[in-house]
Amino acid sequence: MEKIDWEKLPFGYLKTNFNVRCNYRNGEWGELEVHDSEFVNLHMAATSLHYGQEVFEGLKAYRGADDKIRLFRVEENARRFQRSANGILMPELPVEKFTEAVNKVVAINKEYVPPHGTGGTLYIRPLLIGYSAEIGVKPAKEYLFIVFVSPVGPYFKEGFKPVNLMICRNFDRTAPLGTGSYKVGGNYAASLKSLKEAHDAGYSTTLYLDAKEKKYIDEAGPANFFGIKGNTYITPESKSILPSITNMSLMDLAAHLGINVEKRPVLYDELSTFDEVGACGTAAVIAPVGKIYDPDFDKTFVYSADGHPGPICQKLYRKITDIQFGDEEDIFGWIDYVT
Ligand code: PLP
Ligand code: COI
Repeated sequence: MEKIDWEKLPFGYLKTNFNVRCNYRNGEWGELEVHDSEFVNLHMAATSLHYGQEVFEGLKAYRGADDKIRLFRVEENARRFQRSANGILMPELPVEKFTEAVNKVVAINKEYVPPHGTGGTLYIRPLLIGYSAEIGVKPAKEYLFIVFVSPVGPYFKEGFKPVNLMICRNFDRTAPLGTGSYKVGGNYAASLKSLKEAHDAGYSTTLYLDAKEKKYIDEAGPANFFGIKGNTYITPESKSILPSITNMSLMDLAAHLGINVEKRPVLYDELSTFDEVGACGTAAVIAPVGKIYDPDFDKTFVYSADGHPGPICQKLYRKITDIQFGDEEDIFGWIDYVT
């Protein structure tokens, strides 16, 4: 294994030793298999290539000061993987098979789980693809499940420092009754142009408004949105956003810390009323938002003028990462150990 500078890891792909796979054939899931190739031998007419029959997940393994390796709410990812698969007519991988595969892939690559205190984690990427050949628009008969890992650093290069968002009204990542609540590859393809527009203008990511009326807040790029007003944590209720496991956990932690929680449609007009804003997801945990720019009205909403995250974002970030890395007792039952 090459020497890795754990403190300077980007959020990118780094080759590890093994990946774990499982085939679905004749209506049944096979056994888990360990592979050392990074490549897939795929039929050119596979439905994943033509019709986007592909779903994926993202979670992390965390090394504690006790050297134990922890997974955070892995069963929630397993269930969301099933919902996503179901959403585009793919077979559901049993929850136990998903968790077994995740445990296995981390265990056989454990030297790639970054040391405690470096801020690095082992990112875990399960995916499921339509594997067999079709030409008509229909689901495949055979599927391939793969889970691979890569050690990563922070998603946004800023780390836990405010990032800036840009509203892009000229693009939607998903339709009102579309696939936004599933983690399907097509949603990310649909987001690439708006993401480039935001990057080219100097912003970290896009802030999506609802596709129908452009009146409500949906998501912040590949992360959920929340705003803090006084002692209240407010996050959008919308059928077009991915139900984030990080957001779900932050809502529980906020309630535990005596912060009020509201999950409801959030109006664009409320942007001017928030004291703090954050984007949350597995990759970024919480990216505190410094400002949001609305190019159509040349308007800027500022949440951090001094370059520091607000107090509630700081408190929640500390709490969730302390639980993930085992620096604080897990009273919620969110942690599983990799053996
Ligand atoms: N929203 C989108 C579109 C995402 O891709 C992700 C990442 O998985 C999230 C939100 C955050 O979800 P989670 O906290 O489960 O990682
Ligand atoms: C997340 O984990 O929050 C993500 O959105 C992952 C991203 C690379 C798709």
